[in-house]
Amino acid sequence: MRTAFFPGSFDPFTIGHQALVEEGLRIFDKIIVAVGENSDKHGLLPMEQRKRLIEDVYRNEPRVEVVSYKGLTGDYCREHKLNLILRGMRNTVDFDYERNMMQINQRLYPEITTVLLFTPSEYVAVSSSVIREILSFGGSVEQFMPKGIDINNYLK
Ligand code: PNS
Repeated sequence: MRTAFFPGSFDPFTIGHQALVEEGLRIFDKIIVAVGENSDKHGLLPMEQRKRLIEDVYRNEPRVEVVSYKGLTGDYCREHKLNLILRGMRNTVDFDYERNMMQINQRLYPEITTVLLFTPSEYVAVSSSVIREILSFGGSVEQFMPKGIDINNYLK
């Protein structure tokens, strides 16, 4: 069984992330969506709420599991014997960041392969940071969230 580990801040998980999971499920038997910590990013939702939101999205999808973790992504994968990391790319800015992260992980954890998928074009402008920005000014983000998810149910 091919299991991919899909790490991210997911603060919050968006329709773009959801589209990537959908793509990933064509290739992998199972996807573990993993809420991790990016030391450069300021948080909107606490980790437990980010995880709960994603669990609500995939409540009826047995091929998706949701976890949260602290520390290095590679350490978590190694400890849990996971050797496929799935990441998405929207543009060339993402490309440089993802390539660097992949190369460092490759040096530190040679047993791990990173698989990069392009974000479907209709979601390229959607990002968690845009959602945080809209929310900070009191705007509506409903159309950027997975169907049925009301971000207000997860805010502190
Ligand atoms: O959604 P993001 O911010 O792109 O997710 C980034 C995340 C959490 C996957 C990344 O920051 C991460 O792996 N953090 C844990 C620390 C780590 O392993 N860094 C990569 C070493 S280069």
